Amino acid sequence: MTKKTPTTLQAPVESLTNAQAKAELSWLATQLRAANKSYHGADAPDISDADYDHLKQRNKSIETAFPTLKRDDSPSEQIGAAPADGFGKIKHVVRMLSLGNAFSDDDVFDFDTRVRKYLGRENEIGLAYTAEPKIDGLSLSLRYENGHLFQAATRGDGEVGENVTANARTISDIPHQISGAPDVLEVRGEVYMSHEDFAELNARQSDAGAKTFANPRNAAAGSLRQLDASITRARPLRFFAYAWGDLSAPLAQTQSDAIARLQSFGFSTNPLTQICSDPAAMIAHYQKIEQQRATLGYDIDGVVYKVNDLGLQHRLGFRSTTPRWAIAHKFPAELAWTRLERIDIQVGRTGALSPVARLTPVTVGGVVVSNATLHNEDYIAGRDGDGQPIREGRDIRPGDWVQIYRAGDVIPKIKDVDLSRRAKDAPAFVFPDHCPECGSAAIREEGDAVRRCTGGMICPAQAIEKLRHFVSRGAFDIEGMGAKQVEQFYADGWVETPADIFTLRARFGDGLQQLKNRDGWGETSANKLFDAIDSKRQIALSRLIYSLGIRHVGDSSAGLLANHYGRWDAFETAMTQAQIGEGDAWDTLTSIDGIGAVMATSLITAMQQEAERASIDALVAQLEVQDAVAASSDSPVAGKIVVFTGTLEKMTRAEAKARAEALGAKVSGSVSAKTDILVAGPGAGSKAKKAADLGVQTMDEDDWLTLIGDA
Ligand code: IVH
Repeated sequence: MTKKTPTTLQAPVESLTNAQAKAELSWLATQLRAANKSYHGADAPDISDADYDHLKQRNKSIETAFPTLKRDDSPSEQIGAAPADGFGKIKHVVRMLSLGNAFSDDDVFDFDTRVRKYLGRENEIGLAYTAEPKIDGLSLSLRYENGHLFQAATRGDGEVGENVTANARTISDIPHQISGAPDVLEVRGEVYMSHEDFAELNARQSDAGAKTFANPRNAAAGSLRQLDASITRARPLRFFAYAWGDLSAPLAQTQSDAIARLQSFGFSTNPLTQICSDPAAMIAHYQKIEQQRATLGYDIDGVVYKVNDLGLQHRLGFRSTTPRWAIAHKFPAELAWTRLERIDIQVGRTGALSPVARLTPVTVGGVVVSNATLHNEDYIAGRDGDGQPIREGRDIRPGDWVQIYRAGDVIPKIKDVDLSRRAKDAPAFVFPDHCPECGSAAIREEGDAVRRCTGGMICPAQAIEKLRHFVSRGAFDIEGMGAKQVEQFYADGWVETPADIFTLRARFGDGLQQLKNRDGWGETSANKLFDAIDSKRQIALSRLIYSLGIRHVGDSSAGLLANHYGRWDAFETAMTQAQIGEGDAWDTLTSIDGIGAVMATSLITAMQQEAERASIDALVAQLEVQDAVAASSDSPVAGKIVVFTGTLEKMTRAEAKARAEALGAKVSGSVSAKTDILVAGPGAGSKAKKAADLGVQTMDEDDWLTLIGDA
């Protein structure tokens, strides 16, 4: 069905009726879907970048003004890199992670301090690091088996990437055959395009009336992710190798030697890679690279530091998405001036009132920006959380000329405001003290930078945001129940809390009349939805915890909590105990690697808040929560409760804990009858005695390392 172009396209969003907004959103979804398809699939775009951005912005502003009309297939939820139809999927044997960021010299010193602390080398100087340019392209993993290029995959979501083997084979920097390498070798690196090649490609595209690219990174990504490899072949792509994944034998003992080996196999490696013996040397090399940036001939956006000793890299290991042994020191962000049209207040699922700057669209570092975060009311008023002036105390007012910056993929921010261009009578922005969605008082607790709506579940914005989070992909992910449906059900008063989703069949299932009479619902689709809901009654503990939408608790923290407590009732009891200060529940909670005091406070508060708790209890009553499977169920310590005490000599306490948890053990701070193993180093005192009294198995550090196979 071809949808007619809406006549309201030029009308201000505020003037649209519900029906007009709905029709426009539907048209925009079709247009943007077609544009995405032609961009990623056929490389024959039919609209310009600017038009594409304009449609996206229009879509976003209608969604903001009419949040309940946001479509399930909303174009704003689509990530540019979503796997295109037609690419096979490849599961990475070793996940492809990202890097933590450093933005200042202090951050680099802090990184070195963290590394040395983790390794128990606080007082030693001279831990060696490699420093190399951070290439602004897209990462690629190349798997060689017996020296033959077997397959190539993009990073995708880090776990599963797109199979781009045929495309990778067309890149001249990528050898098809290598010799002297381990039988299995995954080489990882960055696909990029040089400035010169980018300019030529854009000129060719433009001559042919085809889409030009906004920057070399987009051009590289668009060229590699082609369904037709002959298009990739015609694109001048290059590749730098800087890392590896799955290996059948180690490459070397140091990062620098491993990179030298990759070079000996025929890969291009970056000539600006250097070994640095301390943070000062790292920063000096960063400055040298920054000076050469403009003449390198390809885009880089920072410098990556990596611990050189691979044994130490192994000991340092990974946090949920980033390695502890590496960091990216980013170059300062790019800047642009534009006009602040208005300040909107959005209400999140935790009730936070977030001010958003609506800007006259401007290009910053190759990306069109029309929204920026304003953080909170202090930030708008020109002061930081401690009341100290920022921007020398200059506040931000609607109508102002503001300077925007963006670093990498982070949300654009406002850096400065030009007072000389401000109208004399421009009023200061007054931050609302009532929720714009439900009218409840919005209050700021002491020490909190954010003002929050006190409406809780009566606030439609919070309730809807919570429900949308609840049905989202990483959470319950119920087929046929997306953001659009929960909003519709909420508007109809059928679903107000997550538990209501699970009673839908009981309430409407028999007659199905009310549902059947609704737009787009028939008996089959309603039954299908009820079946999909029922299929999610069995749910993993980590997903359940994540789905609750508790402030600060993301999916990786939910995973940590689930692994630690194992069962819903153990988790629930521990939260109650931590709240009332019983036993060592609080200490145990905050001793989980990755769970700090702020998250712990948020957890126990949410779990004890009356309305929230009633909603959680009602939900859990509808479910069969599956216990967490220990991270590594085949390890000898999986599921065991372990306590470390005394001085550990071969590893630091943080390292011992992270390693034990990675093997599926639960690490506790105190000995009880439930403790399975006490690892006691020299100087162990009362805990060792208590363990002996309770008959808990006790061993020294060497025995522990033998037990876990690390001796
Ligand atoms: S090392 C465990 N080295 O930056 C992570 N990454 O922001 C190993 N990147 O996903 C990555 N240049 O795509 C590494 N010299 C370099 C890099 C580099 C660019 C990219 C890579 C990574 C992203 C993280």
